[in-house]
Amino acid sequence: MNLAQNISLKNYNSFGIEVYANYFSGFSTVLQLQEALDYYVNFKAGNASSILILGGGSNILFTKNYEGLVLKNELEGIEVVQEDDNFIYVKAGAGVGWHQFVLYCIQNNFAGVENLSLIPGKVGASPMQNIGAYGVEIKDVFYTLEAYHLQEKNIVQFTCEDCNFGYRESVFKNKYKGQFAILSVTYRLNKTAVFNTSYGAITQELDKMNIGTLSIKGISQAVINIRSSKLPDPAVIGNAGSFFKNPEVDANLFSLLQKEFKNIVGYPLPSGSVKLAAGWLIEQCGWKGYRKADAGCFDKQALVLVNYGKATGKEIYELSEAIIASVKNKFNVLLQREVNIF
Ligand code: EPU
Repeated sequence: MNLAQNISLKNYNSFGIEVYANYFSGFSTVLQLQEALDYYVNFKAGNASSILILGGGSNILFTKNYEGLVLKNELEGIEVVQEDDNFIYVKAGAGVGWHQFVLYCIQNNFAGVENLSLIPGKVGASPMQNIGAYGVEIKDVFYTLEAYHLQEKNIVQFTCEDCNFGYRESVFKNKYKGQFAILSVTYRLNKTAVFNTSYGAITQELDKMNIGTLSIKGISQAVINIRSSKLPDPAVIGNAGSFFKNPEVDANLFSLLQKEFKNIVGYPLPSGSVKLAAGWLIEQCGWKGYRKADAGCFDKQALVLVNYGKATGKEIYELSEAIIASVKNKFNVLLQREVNIF
């Protein structure tokens, strides 16, 4: 066993930030994960609190070097594990590319993840922050997952309830932060598609595409078209998708805001509160298309912060601080980051 030392993480985070990890290793079996952990603890005096499990690195901003061990999850494999009258249960290794998994489902006519096409990252990250887009969240198709407890060294099974999914939230981002490596996720997909075209942009794009019969393949293509038209490709411009969450405000504040800002974008929630479009708030503060050195706010979608080349994590973070302050100042709404800061 050997751990690589002083490894650049530039190619392991979609922001393309140049920072270094003290120790680094990939693992493609649970045994390799165990060996790397044991070696780190026994020979490098490391402890479980200085271990970072990395998937695609597509929801992370490094603001400094990582003082500890970075373990890159490379657990592969996709298999059907169960089937009943209505559903098919598919288990995927946490290191499988998310979009690769979506394509597998579409090819096999397993429905439920087509709206989640082209999201960067790996299968293991999907429950971590309950990824969502165009009216669908991972919790809608989640069945179960297996995760390795880094300190207790055992494998634990989580049901949907155990994960306590919320909007871009789960126990893995909160209560159990840093404690588990997700090994595999089993999804429950529909044998008969239930099309979800409720999100405005999808219907418009489908009309534009002029496809005859609605299919999961058609929806996937519509989502791919929309995403490609307004979200930067991390392979070309460093970014981590939406940097902030869309904030929820109570109905009273929303009606006050509406009086002052007639075009404010808000979606009423069943709870009675209203979800605001953070992209709109940020754009109104004049940030859309802003650039200072190589850190910027994307010109087609203000919710996305970008690294045009050599930005440091600190510069991106400082830009996010300035955006939060100006949105608070203009709208009295506090934005929260969606991206994990290290
Ligand atoms: N808008 C603006 N200006 C902007 C961006 C957005 O005015 O620069 C307004 C528009 O009115 C638009 C509304 O905001 O109608 C919503 O915009 P969009 O459809 O682009 O979605 P979003 O709310 O900005 C969320 C997710 C995305 C997801 C899309 C589609 C969050 C934090 N983001 O963005 O997820 O792809 O909806 O479902 O919930 C991600 O999490 O990384 C991500 C990309």
